[in-house]
Amino acid sequence: MSEKLWQGRFDQPTDKMVEEYTASIHFDSRLYRYDIEGSIAHCRMLADCGIISHDEASQIVQALGEIRRETERGELNLDPSQEDIHMAVEQRLMQKIGEVGGKLHTARSRNDQIALDTRLYMRDVLLQCRRLLLDVITGLTDLAEKNLHVILPGFTHLQHAQPVLLAHHLLAYCEMFLRDEERMAQCFNRTNVMPLGSAALAGTTFPIDMERTARQLGFPRVIRNSMDAVSDRDYLIEFCAAGALAMMHISRLSEELVLWSSPEFDFVEISDAFCTGSSIMPQKKNPDVPELMRGKTGRIYGNLMALLTLTKGLPLTYNRDLQEDKEPAFDTADTLLSTLAVLNKMLPALQFHEEKMVQAAAQSFALATDVADYLVLKGVPFRKAHHVVGQLVSHCIREGKDLSDCTLDELKKFHKALEEDIFSILDIRSAVDRRRSLGGTSTERVREALEATRADVESR
Ligand code: ARG
Repeated sequence: MSEKLWQGRFDQPTDKMVEEYTASIHFDSRLYRYDIEGSIAHCRMLADCGIISHDEASQIVQALGEIRRETERGELNLDPSQEDIHMAVEQRLMQKIGEVGGKLHTARSRNDQIALDTRLYMRDVLLQCRRLLLDVITGLTDLAEKNLHVILPGFTHLQHAQPVLLAHHLLAYCEMFLRDEERMAQCFNRTNVMPLGSAALAGTTFPIDMERTARQLGFPRVIRNSMDAVSDRDYLIEFCAAGALAMMHISRLSEELVLWSSPEFDFVEISDAFCTGSSIMPQKKNPDVPELMRGKTGRIYGNLMALLTLTKGLPLTYNRDLQEDKEPAFDTADTLLSTLAVLNKMLPALQFHEEKMVQAAAQSFALATDVADYLVLKGVPFRKAHHVVGQLVSHCIREGKDLSDCTLDELKKFHKALEEDIFSILDIRSAVDRRRSLGGTSTERVREALEATRADVESR
């Protein structure tokens, strides 16, 4: 076992069990690239500021490059005696170039180092999330365009409410995902701040140039308060919150796919490639992928709650509790990224059953509101019209018929303002196309919305 870099003050070696208990190397090793990138930038800055010599800096930078390659090849020692990725890299550095390697840790601490590493990592994750969300939106707009003429029942309370265009339904999800993408972009801006040089908590006595470090690492600004820099994890929490919202939206879409692919609905066929069979029932084709998307949403909520709870009682500044921030954030990143990637593959392979949807849309008095609106146009107050049509619907239910099966005489018994032209109203296509208010489901509005959505995606 190699000696700890902080061993100086200690008389006894760390208990083996404690070593295992306190180690984070098994999960923070994924940060190695960011850790090394940050170290290289810090080292160059130290040399540029005259804190270490240029010769020392080039030895360190070169060795760090080698360590990066070794790590890529899986050669870096990642056992718990290394504690964390920062220690592992630094130990290796000292092994390679001896004492001079010890100069790298001038004017920094692991507290600001981990804050830097996670910010660098989050920047990458956020960019990937944004890209994948935009791809999902494009996938949905493609489906909307392909199915622009398809009508299905719109639901409230999962009861038939009014007919809508499938494209309108799909574009509703686009709006949600556009907001998710926007949240990720905003989270990116707040994450994109450089903390290295805050040192343990109070800043450093060395004449460092943090803006120089920031420039090298592509950060537009430096953290304004060193204590904030090493204490807060709001950027991780914000990502987990934005991720939770995105997963919630994905989960609702998934729920609809599960429901719609059931024989009771039969609105959609999910491709075989995204379903699995049953080990006992030979006939089964189960929608496991959307089910798992719905299911994985639970752990994403859990990760958010874990981070909020982790941080709520911590006094400033760094506390070791904060080491527990990484697994929930990584899990949210991994889960969200893989879910978005699979969703992107699954969407184009969806086959909608137009006939089934239209049939369903025409059922269950979906045009009752339209009859009420018709009466309003003839001067009947809406409340009165609503009541009249309610009685008419109740009559039809008793008689086992639809509104359009009634004769004009029959209709007139409910209100004298009902005339022959009511029958032209009782058509689902025209019902859809009459809803021309902003954000409404008419083909005209939906076509505009489709264009606007595509333009929005382009502009991001
Ligand atoms: N592994 C630690 C973490 O993830 C790095 C910072 C450790 N700092 C310390 N003073 N022990 O939070």
